[in-house]
Amino acid sequence: MTKVVAANWKMHHGPREAAGFLTRYAAPASSRVRTLVFPPHLSIASALRCAPAAVEIGVQNIHWERSGALTGEVSAEMAREAGATLALIGHSERRHLFGESDADVERKVRAAARAGLVPVVCVGELVEERRAGKLNEVLRRQVGAFVDALAGAKEWMVAYEPVWAIGTGETATPADATEAHSIVRAALGDRSGCPILYGGSVKPANARALMEAAEVDGVLVGGASLDPVVLARIAEAAIPVAP
Ligand code: 13P
Repeated sequence: MTKVVAANWKMHHGPREAAGFLTRYAAPASSRVRTLVFPPHLSIASALRCAPAAVEIGVQNIHWERSGALTGEVSAEMAREAGATLALIGHSERRHLFGESDADVERKVRAAARAGLVPVVCVGELVEERRAGKLNEVLRRQVGAFVDALAGAKEWMVAYEPVWAIGTGETATPADATEAHSIVRAALGDRSGCPILYGGSVKPANARALMEAAEVDGVLVGGASLDPVVLARIAEAAIPVAP
């Protein structure tokens, strides 16, 4: 299996910067690493125009309706038409800053599958939940909410992103990641044959150790993915550890 290196740009890189990034991004010349980039909606077209053939472009968020009076929203079908092939769903910032619920995540996964987008669904516990010994319970609840919705998808991924490690510089240890990914895989049941990515303060210095850990099929990178040279170093780190 290849390793997956995914870049979540969040609200960074407008169309011009997206084009500049993808023009400069040196995708590793290895079929053992898959690079995914999730630009803001408005930058998808220019990202696609400039992306090396090996880079896959996804959308950071979708609405579950196909169309409607939903000001500011974008449907899975629109993202597909714009050229996205994947959809990030249920990112921690969507859940905690914009109040997205497990039920919303489930509807979005269905919509992505309907439109032919690969759902990349994010899960992860708050620090209080971890301290209270609720890691297992939280991950099982989050995965349980959307697992049936994967039935319509040909391919999917899950990203484990502990909320306390996002943008904080604090990273889960490889052993923490293995433990959490094992819980996610068990909760996926017969849908567990998919890549499970780790996210939360991934950088060139820790990428290799994380990707070497059992059950870790790749990484989802925020801050360190904004520079094409840094992202390329993370992608290069995946090559020796890809089976
Ligand atoms: P950082 O890599 O900036 O911690 O962000 C992780 C993340 O949220 C990726 O989706």
